[in-house]
Amino acid sequence: MTESRAPIRGLEGVVAAETRLCDLDGAGGRLAYRGYDIGDLARRATFEEVAALLWDGELPDRARLDRLRGDLAAARAVPAALVETFRLMPPGADPMRALQAAVAVLGLHDPDAGDNSRAANLRKAARLTSQIATAICAHHRIRSGREPVAPAADLDHAANMLYMLTGRRPAPAAARAFDASLTLYAEHELNASTFTTRVIASTQSDLHSAVAGGVGALKGPLHGGAGEAVMRTLLEIGEVANVDRFVAEALATRRRLMGFGHRVYRAGDPRAAILRGLAEEACRQSGQFKWYEMAAALHERIQRAKGLIPNVDFYSAPLFYSLGIPLDLFTPVIAAGRIAGWTANIIEQHDDNRLIRPRGDYRGPGRREFVPLDQR
Ligand code: ACO
Repeated sequence: MTESRAPIRGLEGVVAAETRLCDLDGAGGRLAYRGYDIGDLARRATFEEVAALLWDGELPDRARLDRLRGDLAAARAVPAALVETFRLMPPGADPMRALQAAVAVLGLHDPDAGDNSRAANLRKAARLTSQIATAICAHHRIRSGREPVAPAADLDHAANMLYMLTGRRPAPAAARAFDASLTLYAEHELNASTFTTRVIASTQSDLHSAVAGGVGALKGPLHGGAGEAVMRTLLEIGEVANVDRFVAEALATRRRLMGFGHRVYRAGDPRAAILRGLAEEACRQSGQFKWYEMAAALHERIQRAKGLIPNVDFYSAPLFYSLGIPLDLFTPVIAAGRIAGWTANIIEQHDDNRLIRPRGDYRGPGRREFVPLDQR
């Protein structure tokens, strides 16, 4: 066993697992899932096809896709106990906390909960992908004083989620944009939340426990929580004409700009480029084009001044906003996409497991005599 004593802050650049899921080229600004370019997948495949690709290793043929769509649609209902749990939560409960609790409750009710075999993990991955979408929407409806919207069997996963959230059937363009954004969020190698799921899975704990941990990691503003913060920034700026003043102040106060920068992508995040186009179209359709204009102006000024690139969460903010998604549901929606990658990583970890257990570099006091309580 080799042991390096020098800690690597934030594990930057550390390669912690072999994976066949995601090929992330940070220097070239390219991303592929199982060899397929992210642009092709976002534009030409549905989220269901992408989930099958991540879970099975290959794009599904028609029969596999039909089967998966049937399985996902059949799993949309959540246990009544979960809906009751939502009713018992404080009205102001953070939706990510509610989601983390929901994943744990779903684990209590899942017939395969303690079975870590590949077949059981695949069944749980599909079930949880469906149930997470329903849970996010049901919690939102209940906290807003309304009843959950029953899933619509004839709608695809993305369209159905928008429907359960708003109670309105989405326009085809909105459903397509939302579907593409779920694909863009579906997988991203060993980001903080996925690494968390792998660490938990490596103890031979189960899929629901690992996903609940992933939700906790995604919640933070340096990770999935950035999208909501981006929209709050745009709302704070208010008008396109205020962008220059905002940028001058942000630079002067060395403010951390949410939605900018990335640990791995230095030249550009390929997902941001695709989301930019989707946001432009969605903002135009919603009649609130100023959010796109403001984001584009902010992007241009910040990149010029600081060389910072917009990451995946930057243009998804005006996109989600114009799709009518409440601000504090931006991160849960990201979880609804990332669940495909989390579960694929958990399966990969269980398929070839070794406990993930790094070392710490101790910097505290040297060995000393114990001091009894009455002598301290
Ligand atoms: N705003 C201002 N300055 C920044 C930003 C930013 N968003 N990002 C990086 N920098 C600067 C830092 O101040 C630092 O400068 P310094 O060396 O002069 O102090 C330098 O760039 C390096 O920054 P680090 O924080 O060390 O870079 P790290 O790789 O740890 O951070 C991170 C990556 C966390 C994403 C960072 O860029 C950030 O905080 N961005 C804002 C939050 C965000 O958008 N998160 C979403 C990431 S994508 C996702 O998780 C889905």
